[in-house]
Amino acid sequence: MADLRSNFIGIKSPNPFWLASAPPTDKAYNVVRAFEAGWGGVVWKTLGEDPPVVNVNGPRYGASWSNDRRLIGLNNIELITDRPLETNLREIKQVKRDWKDRAMIVSLMVPCEEQNWKSILARVEDTEADGIELNFGCPHGMSERGMGASVGQVPEYVEMVTRWCKQYTRMPVIVKLTPNISDIRTAARAANKGGADAVSLINTITSIMSVNLDTFSPEPSIDGKGTHGGYCGPAVKPIALNMVSKIATDPETAKLPISGIGGITTWRDAVEFMALGCGNVQVCTAAMVYGFKVVEDMIAGLDDFMHDKGFASVDEIVGRAVPNVTEWQNLNLNYIAKAEIDQDLCIKCGRCHIACEDTSHQAITSMVDGARHFEVIDEECVGCNLCVNVCPVEDCISLVQMTSGVDPRTNKPISNEYANWTTHPNNPGSPNFVPAESAKPAE
Ligand SMILES: Cc1cc2nc3c(=O)[nH]c(=O)nc-3n(C[C@H](O)[C@H](O)[C@H](O)COP(=O)(O)O)c2cc1C
Ligand code: SF4
Ligand code: SF4
Repeated sequence: MADLRSNFIGIKSPNPFWLASAPPTDKAYNVVRAFEAGWGGVVWKTLGEDPPVVNVNGPRYGASWSNDRRLIGLNNIELITDRPLETNLREIKQVKRDWKDRAMIVSLMVPCEEQNWKSILARVEDTEADGIELNFGCPHGMSERGMGASVGQVPEYVEMVTRWCKQYTRMPVIVKLTPNISDIRTAARAANKGGADAVSLINTITSIMSVNLDTFSPEPSIDGKGTHGGYCGPAVKPIALNMVSKIATDPETAKLPISGIGGITTWRDAVEFMALGCGNVQVCTAAMVYGFKVVEDMIAGLDDFMHDKGFASVDEIVGRAVPNVTEWQNLNLNYIAKAEIDQDLCIKCGRCHIACEDTSHQAITSMVDGARHFEVIDEECVGCNLCVNVCPVEDCISLVQMTSGVDPRTNKPISNEYANWTTHPNNPGSPNFVPAESAKPAE
């Protein structure tokens, strides 16, 4: 077995898989069973001040599904914990005592006042938890009360509260960021300035799941009315990966440890987050849909992957993809690829033809010599990848790089030299700029 042990900002756990702050970590009963199943750590469901918040008593979830009814997105209107503070603190203390090798992080959300933070920190410290996570992300219910995402959207507040927490506790401080912001880097920089030990992201994305077309109520619907909720699950993974990469590549926050969250369902998802710079990962929806034992597959998959690649520790994965994240202007414009159809796999459904014919570059035949036949016309193919993505047969169409000869579409020789937009003759900002004839002033 590979060494899956994780040391995230000094917090040790037997593997890098933590449960995110949410219903799976709401009480000792759940957390103990999660630890028995093998989770490396948990972020306890967000604690608030007493009296506890009150949740709705009707549907708090909505979902989107693939055609085979696999859940791909989950929407919720749940608030933070609705159990008394003392009950949670007592259970946290006991579970941490019983499970010393697991990471126990306590998520917190109290009004944005120094005294409120100071007093709850002292009580959390008494539980001997390993760290705290500041919930600046919840986009519904609590944000309207001046907490959660409404703090996370204001960099000055993020910095200020982080600084209070660093001042009033010895515990490591993880700042959980909201994706409901135009540039995630501003919040990450603020957390960094406030002294955060790490950031975690993403929390849920503001969303309305659907509208009931009989009652015309947004869903989930409570007595005929709906409100926006927070979206999570596999559908949000690309958004989360991008935000993680922005923080990992920003010179100001490149060294700030990141705990990756958002749609992680398999070991592969987890490794992708780690490769983009996350020291560990957190999971919510996958546990809610498949149960705690989903971590067994994650552990086994990560173990196999590390063996295959010869990685001695999980830290060797962290950040491996970061140097390959770049801006569009740096992409190699001399890289030429063409689609190729494997005729043995093709079931002649015609989807590639329709997609390319109607919306791309008219580069796939439908008939050849009077017979139904799907073949790429290299003279038209721009290598866009649309056909690969719409083909229902895996690996039936692939994009193949041209490394020599002439591109039959442009009649230009293939160059193996790297050239990007910054030096392109069409770019007015390039030293090689050549104005178009039509743009030249009339003589
Ligand atoms: C029902 C539900 C309740 C949640 N409650 C909290 C919470 O109390 N505190 C928090 O920081 N995040 C909360 N979250 C957000 C998750 O911790 C996580 O950031 C988000 O779901 C994205 O991860 P996922 O795609 O693996 O679910 C909640 C998510 C769900 C689905
Ligand atoms: S890669 Fe794009 S242009 Fe080429 S055949 Fe496929 S859809 Fe058409
Ligand atoms: S979409 Fe795929 S299977 Fe269908 S015709 Fe095109 S190549 Fe063949």
